Amino acid sequence: MFLIKFGGSVITDKTQPCVFKADVVDRLASEVQRAHKDVILIHGAGSFGHILAKQYRLHDGYKQKRQLKGAALTQAQVQQLNTLVLHALHAHHLPAVSLPAHVILSLRNHKPLRVDYSLFTRYLDMKFLPVSFGDVVLDTTLGFSICSGDLLMQLLAVKFKPEKVIFVLDEDGLYSANPKTDRSATFIQDTTVGELKQFTTRSNTHADVTKGMEGKLRTIAPIAKAGIDTILLNGNLHNRLYDTLQGKKVRQTVIHGEKV
Ligand code: IPE
Repeated sequence: MFLIKFGGSVITDKTQPCVFKADVVDRLASEVQRAHKDVILIHGAGSFGHILAKQYRLHDGYKQKRQLKGAALTQAQVQQLNTLVLHALHAHHLPAVSLPAHVILSLRNHKPLRVDYSLFTRYLDMKFLPVSFGDVVLDTTLGFSICSGDLLMQLLAVKFKPEKVIFVLDEDGLYSANPKTDRSATFIQDTTVGELKQFTTRSNTHADVTKGMEGKLRTIAPIAKAGIDTILLNGNLHNRLYDTLQGKKVRQTVIHGEKV
């Protein structure tokens, strides 16, 4: 089984509220279909979630009554995005079913408290394609908070030990520094969590990239510890996902799982 995340910036235009990249998602769906693999798919919220979540400060939890509307609206918008993703998968005859994070889990101070993995198992056993996504969820300490797609990836990877964990991004993978501003930046092809930790301490002048890399590292470290390889690849380029699912080496970053 492969665990795949479509990043929010691949499937939506992050600069404008609720703009779905239908062509990209349609092509990615066809790449998944052609590969004929068992898959759990997670997708990010992109501009269907982040804009409202920021506006209503949902990440900090429930502090003011007006946030209730914001939380409800955000949940509805990410669900709308999920429906668009499902339609794209269905158009390619993939039996995709929706398992929203607000149904399958709850958090305690941002950390997982209850996760219903059995729904994934039952749908997978029947050869459905379970799809979950970054969402607003109940949090027993904070009232509600955000469950990111990355957290779902981490939990499902450790639980189900997929063959590979794949993050579909709008970049080729990881660089040693910000390639847009630093000419010495090099592309990282094969690496380990240990090696990446050194990068983040060495390159902490590159705030953006470091923050991005640190966030990804926090997600990937437990996956690597469980012995699973994580691949970061560019979803805007044709067949990078398909080739990877076929075991073909393309331009991508592989963070190798530790020997367990
Ligand atoms: C965020 O999910 C969820 C909400 C803002 C409701 P992600 O963090 O997985 O989304 P992307 O991939 O960054 O867009």
